[in-house]
Amino acid sequence: MSAQTQDISVIGYSKDYATDLLRLLLLLQRDYFSENASEQIKELRAEKDIEGAYKTYIRYIASRQDDTWKVLLARASGNIIGFIIGSILVEPDLVNGIVGRIEDWYVEKEFRGSGIGIELYDELEDWFIEKECDQVVSDTWADNELSIKAHKQSGFFVSGISFSKKL
Ligand SMILES: CC(C)(COP(=O)(O)OP(=O)(O)OC[C@H]1O[C@@H](n2cnc3c(N)ncnc32)[C@H](O)[C@@H]1OP(=O)(O)O)[C@@H](O)C(=O)NCCC(=O)NCCS
Repeated sequence: MSAQTQDISVIGYSKDYATDLLRLLLLLQRDYFSENASEQIKELRAEKDIEGAYKTYIRYIASRQDDTWKVLLARASGNIIGFIIGSILVEPDLVNGIVGRIEDWYVEKEFRGSGIGIELYDELEDWFIEKECDQVVSDTWADNELSIKAHKQSGFFVSGISFSKKL
């Protein structure tokens, strides 16, 4: 069955989905990243224990009591096939100082290109608006074409360039 013909819904995260979220975070940060980032970027961002780090990350998000983190999942025919994670940070010195941030965003390869990513983002943006955010920020590594396209499609502009150098 193609992604287009399946019943897709966006749902909120609960601890029952911890294993699904970990699987998708690893697909994003280990597989997609290692297949698509340059050797230079991979060298600088290689993690010692990526699975352990993401288990800790998931526990950290679930333990937050202050409603400053949001995890949304995309479900297709009962399977979790995508997610987006957002957080809110207050920057007191800024006029537009309530800042929403996309932390991670992923849709499994065979489901891409049918609007699921944008649907996840739109729901996250609704939550940012409900929380009175003034702006949304997000970043990715250079040359991540899919990410750049999806951000532009969601109304983002490129607002900075970061430099790295291995010592
Ligand atoms: C970014 C991502 C979550 C978007 O999810 P998605 O379900 O494919 O997104 P959509 O179908 O809503 O499409 C959004 C835009 O992405 C682009 N896009 C989607 N699939 C594409 C593909 N296979 N080839 C080229 N561009 C594609 C298109 O510009 C599309 O907009 P359009 O169809 O209106 O032109 C997904 O591509 C992904 O998981 N990428 C790998 C991980 C990643 O880069 N994450 C983001 C930052 S860390």
